[in-house]
Amino acid sequence: MVIHWGAPLPVEEDLDSLWAAQVMDVTGGMMDETAPLSICPEARLGWAGMPGAVLIDENGCRVLPHLTHVTVRTERSDLGRPQSLNVSAEDPARGISYHAVLALTGEGMVQTWASVTAPGHVVEWLAAPLLPVPPDSDGVLDFSGRWIGEFQLQRYEWRPGIHMREARQGRSGHEHPPFAVLTSRGATNTAGEVRALSYDWSGGHRMIAEELSDGRRQLQFGHAPGSHSKGHARTATLTATFSGEGLNGTARNFQRHVRKMTTPHARQPRPVHYNCWEAVYFDHDPVELRDIACRAADLGAERFVLDDGWFGRRDDDRTSLGDWTVDRRKWPEGLRPFAEHVESLGMGFGLWVEPEMVNKDSDLYRAHPEWLLGPADQPSGRQQFVLDLAQSAVAEHIFTCLDRLLTEVPITYLKWDHNRVLPFADERQVRGLDSLLDRLTLAHPGVEIETCASGGGRIDLGILRHAGRVWLSDSNDALERLRIQHDAALFLPACVTGSHVGPRHCHTSGRTLDIRFRAWVAAQRHMGFEMDPRELTEDEARILRSVTDWWKANRDWRMAADILRLDHPDPAVIAEIQVAQDGARFVVFAGQAAASAQSLTRPLQLAGLEAGARYRVTLRNADEAPPLSRGAPALKSGPLILSGQALMRQGVTLPWRFPEGVWVLEGERVP
Ligand code: GLA
Repeated sequence: MVIHWGAPLPVEEDLDSLWAAQVMDVTGGMMDETAPLSICPEARLGWAGMPGAVLIDENGCRVLPHLTHVTVRTERSDLGRPQSLNVSAEDPARGISYHAVLALTGEGMVQTWASVTAPGHVVEWLAAPLLPVPPDSDGVLDFSGRWIGEFQLQRYEWRPGIHMREARQGRSGHEHPPFAVLTSRGATNTAGEVRALSYDWSGGHRMIAEELSDGRRQLQFGHAPGSHSKGHARTATLTATFSGEGLNGTARNFQRHVRKMTTPHARQPRPVHYNCWEAVYFDHDPVELRDIACRAADLGAERFVLDDGWFGRRDDDRTSLGDWTVDRRKWPEGLRPFAEHVESLGMGFGLWVEPEMVNKDSDLYRAHPEWLLGPADQPSGRQQFVLDLAQSAVAEHIFTCLDRLLTEVPITYLKWDHNRVLPFADERQVRGLDSLLDRLTLAHPGVEIETCASGGGRIDLGILRHAGRVWLSDSNDALERLRIQHDAALFLPACVTGSHVGPRHCHTSGRTLDIRFRAWVAAQRHMGFEMDPRELTEDEARILRSVTDWWKANRDWRMAADILRLDHPDPAVIAEIQVAQDGARFVVFAGQAAASAQSLTRPLQLAGLEAGARYRVTLRNADEAPPLSRGAPALKSGPLILSGQALMRQGVTLPWRFPEGVWVLEGERVP
């Protein structure tokens, strides 16, 4: 049982007393002993809530394991402090063994995982070793979402019963991303105790937040039921962190952790992307695309991504997934000359693939109908089906196709898509993908992978082991993106978060948005363009070029900066500050998402600065103030020098502006 997870206690704290202080009473209507809320709560001991493990035996009967013979092994770090705990327990009568690990990363993260070996049994549910919910927790923040509406923050307030989030369709999903945040009373973005957790798994999971009638609360994460193979189960890693500095404290810890654990590409200078999807869709014409590539390079793109439509006979989404050979009708000379053209323009060449999928109208399916995951008569999703990666022939085939492509064409980047849910959750599928990606990365270490699943349908720390970028959403609508990326920053750093400047008339919302707004919103993260550059007016192209130049000039520190969400008293404003690792500079993006209720802007209080330091703050885009901004807020006419304390407590007043625009406030520490 983990007794304390939170603010550090004094080193001399007596652990026996700490334990004794938590022992619960017994009253009427209860068992005579209160079952412990251990790292794997056991129903056999009278635990009335969701147990940590549920097993089914060969007769289909539920088994309550009798775990005894508990051993605990401690591994110590160089400093002599415990670094990890290995807990083992056995149910000798049934031949079941349980193993748990709880480890500290040394950088503020706790990681836990568990495994069960139970010959002849099906492990229906296995929770990663539990971390305690603090007594002053007032609820859980987690995300719901949908296609073009990812990472919608929602709040669950503790009350008796269960709040369950379950991604049953074999991927982490738009609907229930595997993240949760436990807030303590009064926590805000900038203050209060917060604990954030991630279940690092792409294959479907379950989260249970439960309050028992005795008042205790638990938070469990595990694979979606039905995922585990017979006889053995292993949870994914549960990664968690505590902060006494509000949501921004845990966000900072997660952003830094992700930046470190993901692929090295995310830590190298991020190239500005151009993606041709919303410009041409399936309609590939090399002459047009060459022209588009020239224009993209002229705008400042450094990587050109050829999206869906280049292979098989892929004129729409009904055909050809699985046939990873170039469509010679569209590309008579193959892709190499085009890739070389892209390179000659100073850009890297990237390609879209969706290797885990197959259309029934494909040579692959006609040759291998038995490679499908699940029954042949299942309904299709986007006209497609999933390949069974647990079959070694399937994995071998996909590897060979991709390996050939990567060898024949100078590709430095794959946009790896996954546009259909699985027929069921199956851990073998994720393990198959893991090995495929490991093998591919070993063979082609220079190739960066981006994870995409109809936008943000597979964003989790499992896939981020292989992919250094996430396609956060298929919505290139800057107004939607402003919100989505702001909320996703509770876990995701800028360097992994793709954000593109979309078309003037947004294809997924019908909105018409100004180029300044589109450009600055994309500039908040890993920037790219995803419109037909031929639609840009001279003026739009000039503005886009200038924001892109600004992005490039600042990318080195910004892609490693901490993104802190600002608590702004105006709900129409979505604001964040990005602070450089050395604290010497920052940039604030204050997005006016809607018209404010009051007539004037409220001062914006910053965060994450040194109270005693002085900063020069400059409104980068003061020229965007409309004629209706008739007054004279100081920032309109030049920089101000203020202390961190003044910026964080009193704040700064930005000029009035139309909705659908972003103020960009740059700051640098002055000696
Ligand atoms: C998915 C992706 C898009 C695009 C299309 C191509 O929907 O999310 O960005 O790549 O597939 O078919």
